Amino acid sequence: MKITLLPGDGIGVEIVDAAVEVLDAAAKKYNFTVEYDKKLIGGAAIDAFGTPLPEETLASAKASDAVLLGAVGGPKWDNVDPSIRPEKGLLNIRKGLGLYCNLRPMKVSKYTAHLSPLKTERAEGADLLIVRELTGGIYFGTHNEAHLNADGVEEASDIEMYTRPEVERIARFAFEAARKRGGKVTSVDKANVLGSSRMWRKIVTEMRDKEYTDVELNHFYVDNCAMQLVLNPKQFDVVLTNNIFGDILSDEASTIAGSIGLLPSASLGDGAGMYEPIHGSAPDIAGQGIANPLATILSVAMMLRYSLNQDVAADAVERAVDEVLEAGYRTPDLWAEGLKKVSTAEMGKLVAEAVK
Ligand code: IPM
Ligand code: MG
Repeated sequence: MKITLLPGDGIGVEIVDAAVEVLDAAAKKYNFTVEYDKKLIGGAAIDAFGTPLPEETLASAKASDAVLLGAVGGPKWDNVDPSIRPEKGLLNIRKGLGLYCNLRPMKVSKYTAHLSPLKTERAEGADLLIVRELTGGIYFGTHNEAHLNADGVEEASDIEMYTRPEVERIARFAFEAARKRGGKVTSVDKANVLGSSRMWRKIVTEMRDKEYTDVELNHFYVDNCAMQLVLNPKQFDVVLTNNIFGDILSDEASTIAGSIGLLPSASLGDGAGMYEPIHGSAPDIAGQGIANPLATILSVAMMLRYSLNQDVAADAVERAVDEVLEAGYRTPDLWAEGLKKVSTAEMGKLVAEAVK
Protein backbone atom coordinates (compact mmCIF):
# COMPACT_ATOMS: atom_id res chain seq x y z
CA MET A 1 0.00 0.00 0.00
CA LYS A 2 1.29 3.41 -0.90
CA ILE A 3 0.31 6.23 1.44
CA THR A 4 0.96 9.91 0.84
CA LEU A 5 1.61 11.73 4.11
CA LEU A 6 0.70 15.41 4.22
CA PRO A 7 1.48 16.66 7.74
CA GLY A 8 0.82 20.27 6.70
CA ASP A 9 1.17 22.97 9.35
CA GLY A 10 1.13 23.46 13.10
CA ILE A 11 0.28 20.36 15.11
CA GLY A 12 -0.25 18.49 11.82
CA VAL A 13 3.37 17.36 11.95
CA GLU A 14 3.20 15.80 15.44
CA ILE A 15 -0.16 14.12 15.06
CA VAL A 16 0.71 12.54 11.72
CA ASP A 17 3.92 11.13 13.23
CA ALA A 18 1.92 9.56 16.04
CA ALA A 19 -0.67 8.15 13.64
CA VAL A 20 2.01 6.64 11.38
CA GLU A 21 3.34 4.76 14.38
CA VAL A 22 -0.09 3.19 14.81
CA LEU A 23 -0.48 2.41 11.11
CA ASP A 24 2.94 0.71 11.13
CA ALA A 25 1.89 -1.40 14.11
CA ALA A 26 -1.34 -2.40 12.34
CA ALA A 27 0.53 -3.28 9.13
CA LYS A 28 2.93 -5.48 11.05
CA LYS A 29 0.25 -7.24 13.01
CA TYR A 30 -2.09 -7.81 10.05
CA ASN A 31 0.58 -8.58 7.46
CA PHE A 32 0.41 -5.87 4.90
CA THR A 33 3.11 -3.43 3.90
CA VAL A 34 2.84 0.34 3.78
CA GLU A 35 5.16 2.65 1.97
CA TYR A 36 5.11 6.38 2.68
CA ASP A 37 5.68 9.39 0.50
CA LYS A 38 5.81 12.58 2.59
CA LYS A 39 4.88 15.81 0.80
CA LEU A 40 4.18 19.45 1.62
CA ILE A 41 0.78 21.13 1.63
CA GLY A 42 -0.65 24.38 3.03
CA GLY A 43 1.59 27.00 4.59
CA ALA A 44 4.63 24.72 4.60
CA ALA A 45 4.25 24.37 0.82
CA ILE A 46 3.79 28.12 0.38
CA ASP A 47 7.08 28.68 2.19
CA ALA A 48 8.94 26.12 0.08
CA PHE A 49 7.24 26.42 -3.33
CA GLY A 50 5.11 29.57 -3.27
CA THR A 51 1.93 27.52 -3.67
CA PRO A 52 -0.19 25.63 -1.11
CA LEU A 53 -0.56 22.59 -3.38
CA PRO A 54 2.63 21.87 -5.34
CA GLU A 55 2.22 19.66 -8.41
CA GLU A 56 4.39 16.95 -6.89
CA THR A 57 2.07 16.77 -3.88
CA LEU A 58 -1.03 16.23 -6.01
CA ALA A 59 0.83 13.77 -8.23
CA SER A 60 1.94 11.72 -5.22
CA ALA A 61 -1.61 11.72 -3.81
CA LYS A 62 -3.03 10.60 -7.16
CA ALA A 63 -0.56 7.73 -7.31
CA SER A 64 -1.36 6.56 -3.76
CA ASP A 65 -3.85 4.16 -2.27
CA ALA A 66 -4.69 6.74 0.38
CA VAL A 67 -3.66 10.11 1.77
CA LEU A 68 -3.21 10.98 5.44
CA LEU A 69 -3.41 14.70 6.16
CA GLY A 70 -2.66 16.57 9.39
CA ALA A 71 -3.92 20.16 9.17
CA VAL A 72 -3.22 23.34 7.22
CA GLY A 73 -3.06 27.04 7.99
CA GLY A 74 -1.81 29.44 10.62
CA PRO A 75 -1.48 33.15 11.37
CA LYS A 76 1.79 33.30 9.45
CA TRP A 77 -0.15 32.99 6.17
CA ASP A 78 -3.22 35.04 7.09
CA ASN A 79 -2.28 37.86 4.78
CA VAL A 80 -1.19 36.00 1.66
CA ASP A 81 -3.23 36.42 -1.53
CA PRO A 82 -6.58 34.53 -1.20
CA SER A 83 -5.74 32.46 -4.29
CA ILE A 84 -2.78 30.87 -2.50
CA ARG A 85 -3.99 30.70 1.09
CA PRO A 86 -3.06 27.42 2.88
CA GLU A 87 -6.75 26.42 2.85
CA LYS A 88 -6.69 26.62 -0.94
CA GLY A 89 -4.25 23.69 -0.85
CA LEU A 90 -6.84 21.63 0.97
CA LEU A 91 -9.70 22.67 -1.32
CA ASN A 92 -7.61 22.02 -4.42
CA ILE A 93 -6.49 18.57 -3.34
CA ARG A 94 -10.12 17.66 -2.55
CA LYS A 95 -11.11 18.82 -6.02
CA GLY A 96 -8.02 17.35 -7.69
CA LEU A 97 -8.70 13.90 -6.23
CA GLY A 98 -12.45 14.14 -6.88
CA LEU A 99 -13.25 13.68 -3.18
CA TYR A 100 -16.88 14.64 -3.30
CA CYS A 101 -17.94 12.72 -0.22
CA ASN A 102 -16.85 13.75 3.25
CA LEU A 103 -17.76 11.42 6.10
CA ARG A 104 -17.63 12.91 9.59
CA PRO A 105 -18.77 10.46 12.24
CA MET A 106 -19.53 11.82 15.70
CA LYS A 107 -19.89 9.30 18.44
CA VAL A 108 -19.93 10.39 22.04
CA SER A 109 -17.42 8.24 23.86
CA LYS A 110 -18.13 7.35 27.47
CA TYR A 111 -14.64 8.68 28.26
CA THR A 112 -15.47 12.20 27.14
CA ALA A 113 -19.27 12.50 27.49
CA HIS A 114 -18.77 14.41 30.77
CA LEU A 115 -16.69 17.00 28.86
CA SER A 116 -19.56 17.76 26.50
CA PRO A 117 -21.05 21.24 26.79
CA LEU A 118 -24.40 19.42 26.75
CA LYS A 119 -25.74 17.66 29.83
CA THR A 120 -24.05 14.27 29.97
CA GLU A 121 -27.30 12.32 29.61
CA ARG A 122 -28.22 14.35 26.55
CA ALA A 123 -24.87 13.73 24.86
CA GLU A 124 -24.01 10.20 25.91
CA GLY A 125 -24.95 7.62 23.30
CA ALA A 126 -25.23 10.09 20.41
CA ASP A 127 -23.86 8.43 17.30
CA LEU A 128 -24.29 10.17 13.99
CA LEU A 129 -22.58 10.40 10.63
CA ILE A 130 -22.43 13.63 8.69
CA VAL A 131 -22.24 13.03 4.95
CA ARG A 132 -21.04 16.34 3.55
CA GLU A 133 -20.82 17.15 -0.15
CA LEU A 134 -17.21 18.30 -0.59
CA THR A 135 -16.40 19.44 -4.11
CA GLY A 136 -19.36 21.61 -5.06
CA GLY A 137 -21.62 24.37 -3.82
CA ILE A 138 -20.51 27.80 -2.72
CA TYR A 139 -16.96 26.62 -2.02
CA PHE A 140 -16.38 26.06 -5.72
CA GLY A 141 -18.87 28.45 -7.33
CA THR A 142 -17.60 31.66 -8.90
CA HIS A 143 -15.98 33.91 -6.30
CA ASN A 144 -16.07 37.60 -6.98
CA GLU A 145 -13.66 39.20 -4.55
CA ALA A 146 -14.45 42.67 -3.21
CA HIS A 147 -14.53 45.28 -5.98
CA LEU A 148 -16.32 48.53 -6.79
CA ASN A 149 -19.50 48.08 -8.80
CA ALA A 150 -20.83 50.45 -11.48
CA ASP A 151 -22.28 52.70 -8.76
CA GLY A 152 -18.92 52.87 -7.01
CA VAL A 153 -20.14 50.71 -4.12
CA GLU A 154 -17.90 47.92 -2.91
CA GLU A 155 -19.40 44.46 -3.42
CA ALA A 156 -18.38 40.79 -3.40
CA SER A 157 -20.19 37.55 -4.14
CA ASP A 158 -19.90 33.75 -4.06
CA ILE A 159 -22.23 31.47 -5.98
CA GLU A 160 -23.98 28.40 -4.54
CA MET A 161 -24.60 25.97 -7.41
CA TYR A 162 -25.33 22.25 -7.65
CA THR A 163 -26.02 19.95 -10.56
CA ARG A 164 -28.34 16.95 -10.37
CA PRO A 165 -25.49 14.39 -10.72
CA GLU A 166 -23.61 16.06 -7.85
CA VAL A 167 -26.65 15.78 -5.58
CA GLU A 168 -27.43 12.22 -6.65
CA ARG A 169 -23.99 10.82 -5.98
CA ILE A 170 -23.70 12.30 -2.49
CA ALA A 171 -27.28 11.32 -1.62
CA ARG A 172 -26.53 7.77 -2.75
CA PHE A 173 -23.61 7.65 -0.33
CA ALA A 174 -25.86 8.77 2.50
CA PHE A 175 -28.62 6.27 1.73
CA GLU A 176 -26.12 3.41 1.43
CA ALA A 177 -24.46 4.45 4.70
CA ALA A 178 -27.86 4.56 6.43
CA ARG A 179 -28.58 1.00 5.32
CA LYS A 180 -25.45 -0.13 7.18
CA ARG A 181 -26.29 1.98 10.25
CA GLY A 182 -29.62 3.02 11.74
CA GLY A 183 -31.61 3.18 8.49
CA LYS A 184 -32.38 6.91 8.71
CA VAL A 185 -31.28 9.90 6.64
CA THR A 186 -31.87 13.51 7.66
CA SER A 187 -31.30 15.76 4.67
CA VAL A 188 -30.41 19.33 5.60
CA ASP A 189 -31.08 22.31 3.35
CA LYS A 190 -32.54 25.81 3.27
CA ALA A 191 -35.35 25.04 0.83
CA ASN A 192 -37.53 27.81 2.27
CA VAL A 193 -35.11 30.33 0.78
CA LEU A 194 -32.68 28.82 -1.75
CA GLY A 195 -33.35 27.41 -5.22
CA SER A 196 -30.34 25.11 -4.96
CA SER A 197 -31.85 23.68 -1.77
CA ARG A 198 -35.27 23.15 -3.36
CA MET A 199 -33.63 21.11 -6.13
CA TRP A 200 -31.56 19.23 -3.53
CA ARG A 201 -34.69 18.32 -1.56
CA LYS A 202 -36.60 17.25 -4.68
CA ILE A 203 -33.79 14.95 -5.87
CA VAL A 204 -33.21 13.37 -2.45
CA THR A 205 -36.94 12.72 -2.06
CA GLU A 206 -37.17 11.16 -5.54
CA MET A 207 -34.28 8.82 -4.79
CA ARG A 208 -35.83 7.73 -1.53
CA ASP A 209 -39.15 7.00 -3.24
CA LYS A 210 -37.58 5.16 -6.18
CA GLU A 211 -34.60 3.29 -4.78
CA TYR A 212 -34.43 3.55 -1.01
CA THR A 213 -37.93 2.90 0.29
CA ASP A 214 -36.36 0.90 3.14
CA VAL A 215 -34.59 4.04 4.44
CA GLU A 216 -36.43 6.58 6.58
CA LEU A 217 -35.97 10.12 5.27
CA ASN A 218 -36.72 13.45 6.87
CA HIS A 219 -35.75 17.01 5.91
CA PHE A 220 -34.58 19.79 8.20
CA TYR A 221 -33.85 23.39 7.40
CA VAL A 222 -30.28 24.08 8.42
CA ASP A 223 -31.20 26.55 11.16
CA ASN A 224 -33.56 24.05 12.74
CA CYS A 225 -30.94 21.32 12.37
CA ALA A 226 -28.39 23.42 14.24
CA MET A 227 -30.91 23.71 17.06
CA GLN A 228 -31.95 20.05 17.01
CA LEU A 229 -28.30 18.97 17.25
CA VAL A 230 -27.97 20.51 20.68
CA LEU A 231 -31.53 19.75 21.80
CA ASN A 232 -31.46 16.07 20.97
CA PRO A 233 -28.39 14.78 19.12
CA LYS A 234 -29.55 11.19 19.57
CA GLN A 235 -32.38 11.68 17.04
CA PHE A 236 -29.83 11.66 14.18
CA ASP A 237 -28.37 8.74 12.28
CA VAL A 238 -27.05 9.94 8.88
CA VAL A 239 -27.07 13.68 8.21
CA LEU A 240 -26.83 14.46 4.50
CA THR A 241 -25.94 17.99 3.52
CA ASN A 242 -24.13 20.32 1.16
CA ASN A 243 -20.61 21.67 1.43
CA ILE A 244 -21.11 24.79 3.51
CA PHE A 245 -23.87 23.52 5.80
CA GLY A 246 -21.76 20.39 6.40
CA ASP A 247 -18.78 22.54 7.31
CA ILE A 248 -20.78 24.42 9.92
CA LEU A 249 -22.82 21.55 11.33
CA SER A 250 -19.79 19.27 11.67
CA ASP A 251 -18.00 21.77 13.91
CA GLU A 252 -21.14 22.04 15.99
CA ALA A 253 -21.55 18.27 16.17
CA SER A 254 -17.90 17.75 17.07
CA THR A 255 -18.13 19.84 20.17
CA ILE A 256 -20.98 17.69 21.47
CA ALA A 257 -18.50 14.82 21.71
CA GLY A 258 -16.56 16.70 24.37
CA SER A 259 -13.36 17.25 22.43
CA ILE A 260 -12.66 18.19 18.87
CA GLY A 261 -9.42 16.22 19.30
CA LEU A 262 -11.21 12.91 18.91
CA LEU A 263 -13.10 13.18 15.66
CA PRO A 264 -11.78 11.67 12.42
CA SER A 265 -12.93 12.12 8.85
CA ALA A 266 -12.73 10.44 5.49
CA SER A 267 -13.02 12.11 2.11
CA LEU A 268 -13.93 9.70 -0.64
CA GLY A 269 -14.46 9.81 -4.36
CA ASP A 270 -13.53 7.74 -7.33
CA GLY A 271 -9.81 7.36 -6.58
CA ALA A 272 -7.63 7.41 -3.47
CA GLY A 273 -9.35 8.52 -0.28
CA MET A 274 -8.03 11.21 2.04
CA TYR A 275 -8.16 10.96 5.82
CA GLU A 276 -7.74 13.75 8.32
CA PRO A 277 -8.80 14.85 11.79
CA ILE A 278 -11.57 17.40 11.67
CA HIS A 279 -9.68 19.88 13.85
CA GLY A 280 -7.29 22.52 12.56
CA SER A 281 -3.57 23.20 12.87
CA ALA A 282 -3.76 24.76 16.37
CA PRO A 283 -0.70 26.99 15.90
CA ASP A 284 -0.93 28.11 19.54
CA ILE A 285 0.11 24.66 20.80
CA ALA A 286 2.22 23.44 17.86
CA GLY A 287 5.60 21.88 18.59
CA GLN A 288 4.93 21.40 22.29
CA GLY A 289 4.00 17.72 22.15
CA ILE A 290 0.65 18.34 23.83
CA ALA A 291 -1.70 17.91 20.86
CA ASN A 292 -4.16 15.03 20.93
CA PRO A 293 -3.34 12.58 18.10
CA LEU A 294 -6.42 10.41 18.59
CA ALA A 295 -8.53 12.06 15.86
CA THR A 296 -5.72 11.36 13.39
CA ILE A 297 -5.27 7.83 14.70
CA LEU A 298 -9.02 7.24 14.30
CA SER A 299 -8.71 8.67 10.77
CA VAL A 300 -6.15 5.91 10.14
CA ALA A 301 -8.83 3.42 11.23
CA MET A 302 -11.18 4.92 8.63
CA MET A 303 -8.39 4.66 6.04
CA LEU A 304 -7.91 0.98 6.86
CA ARG A 305 -11.62 0.40 6.42
CA TYR A 306 -12.43 2.49 3.33
CA SER A 307 -9.22 2.53 1.29
CA LEU A 308 -6.97 -0.34 2.37
CA ASN A 309 -9.62 -3.02 2.75
CA GLN A 310 -8.38 -3.95 6.22
CA ASP A 311 -11.56 -4.09 8.30
CA VAL A 312 -10.04 -6.23 11.02
CA ALA A 313 -7.10 -3.86 11.44
CA ALA A 314 -9.52 -0.91 11.49
CA ASP A 315 -11.48 -2.49 14.34
CA ALA A 316 -8.21 -3.21 16.15
CA VAL A 317 -7.10 0.43 15.97
CA GLU A 318 -10.45 1.65 17.32
CA ARG A 319 -10.34 -0.92 20.09
CA ALA A 320 -6.76 0.08 20.92
CA VAL A 321 -7.82 3.72 21.34
CA ASP A 322 -10.57 2.64 23.74
CA GLU A 323 -8.16 0.45 25.70
CA VAL A 324 -5.69 3.28 26.15
CA LEU A 325 -8.44 5.62 27.32
CA GLU A 326 -9.83 2.91 29.58
CA ALA A 327 -6.35 2.55 31.12
CA GLY A 328 -6.52 6.25 32.04
CA TYR A 329 -4.03 7.81 29.61
CA ARG A 330 -4.92 11.28 28.38
CA THR A 331 -3.28 14.08 26.43
CA PRO A 332 -3.57 17.42 28.27
CA ASP A 333 -6.80 18.45 26.49
CA LEU A 334 -8.63 15.55 28.15
CA TRP A 335 -6.62 15.22 31.32
CA ALA A 336 -8.07 15.56 34.82
CA GLU A 337 -6.85 14.73 38.33
CA GLY A 338 -6.42 10.97 38.79
CA LEU A 339 -5.61 10.31 35.10
CA LYS A 340 -2.19 9.80 33.50
CA LYS A 341 -1.01 12.73 31.44
CA VAL A 342 0.92 11.78 28.27
CA SER A 343 2.43 13.62 25.32
CA THR A 344 1.38 13.39 21.68
CA ALA A 345 4.17 10.92 20.91
CA GLU A 346 3.55 8.84 24.03
CA MET A 347 -0.13 8.56 23.11
CA GLY A 348 0.87 7.31 19.65
CA LYS A 349 3.18 4.71 21.18
CA LEU A 350 0.54 3.53 23.67
CA VAL A 351 -2.05 2.99 20.94
CA ALA A 352 0.52 1.28 18.70
CA GLU A 353 1.42 -1.04 21.59
CA ALA A 354 -2.25 -1.82 22.17
CA VAL A 355 -2.66 -2.69 18.48
CA LYS A 356 0.26 -5.11 18.65
C1 IPM B 1 -13.02 21.74 7.19
C2 IPM B 1 -12.30 23.06 7.22
C3 IPM B 1 -12.05 23.50 5.78
C4 IPM B 1 -13.40 23.65 5.12
C5 IPM B 1 -11.23 24.80 5.66
C6 IPM B 1 -9.89 24.67 6.37
C7 IPM B 1 -11.04 25.20 4.23
O1 IPM B 1 -13.02 24.00 7.94
O2 IPM B 1 -12.45 20.77 6.63
O3 IPM B 1 -14.12 21.66 7.73
O4 IPM B 1 -14.04 24.71 5.24
O5 IPM B 1 -13.83 22.71 4.45
MG1 MG C 1 -14.71 23.20 8.91
